[in-house]
Amino acid sequence: MKNKNLKNYKIIITAGGTQEPIDPVRYIGNRSSGKMGIAILKAALKKNCRVSFIYANITEQLPRGTYKKMYTPSAQDMYETLKKEFTPDSILIMAAAVADFRVKKIQKNKIKKENHSSLNLELIPNKDILKSLSRIKTNQKLIGFAAESQSLLENAQKKLKAKKLDMIIANDISNPDIGFGSDFNQVYFITKSGYFQSERISKNKLGEMILNSIQKLL
Ligand code: CTP
Repeated sequence: MKNKNLKNYKIIITAGGTQEPIDPVRYIGNRSSGKMGIAILKAALKKNCRVSFIYANITEQLPRGTYKKMYTPSAQDMYETLKKEFTPDSILIMAAAVADFRVKKIQKNKIKKENHSSLNLELIPNKDILKSLSRIKTNQKLIGFAAESQSLLENAQKKLKAKKLDMIIANDISNPDIGFGSDFNQVYFITKSGYFQSERISKNKLGEMILNSIQKLL
């Protein structure tokens, strides 16, 4: 029997940009603000869902309310936490901007400029969190995001397949009116049976729309 009520699932939302340490004071980061993930969190709380919120660097305050929150600064931290949290009753909404690479050798002490005339950082790949979880999933639902600057639909559809997602939400990051840091977004909702484009709407409204479209997948 399929369970069609969102309230009977654990909604796991990831948000923000991971920070990959270089030394005790420096890191490699990205421009994610966490706003989209926080908007989904607010929508889930409005619907009285059971939520686990797993976040890296965010630039906004988190809403009050009853939910489990876990701070995972790096991609590896996020992966380790998700592995434990990803129980069969989960719907994972992966809005975090996860770094694809991390520094191979993190320096224990601050790197001093006088010791270097130039500096090379060797980067090694991080795990693809969604792909790893798709390999162990049983009844869980997986929702991903695709941040693209070209061939939006085509690239997002590739990610939907490669990561075995139930839905991917794709946005064009080359447009400064939407996406990173903006309060607005315009996205494609893509499943294996088709796609549709939203209007340009507030991220808060979009958060509600995302939950409503996940509800339809159940
Ligand atoms: N993602 C992930 N683990 C990673 C990188 C990304 O789980 N190491 C997730 C993101 O949270 C997002 C989806 O995969 O939901 C797509 O992320 P995106 O950055 O658009 O794509 P990548 O798979 O990283 O591919 P590329 O950066 O080459 O476009």
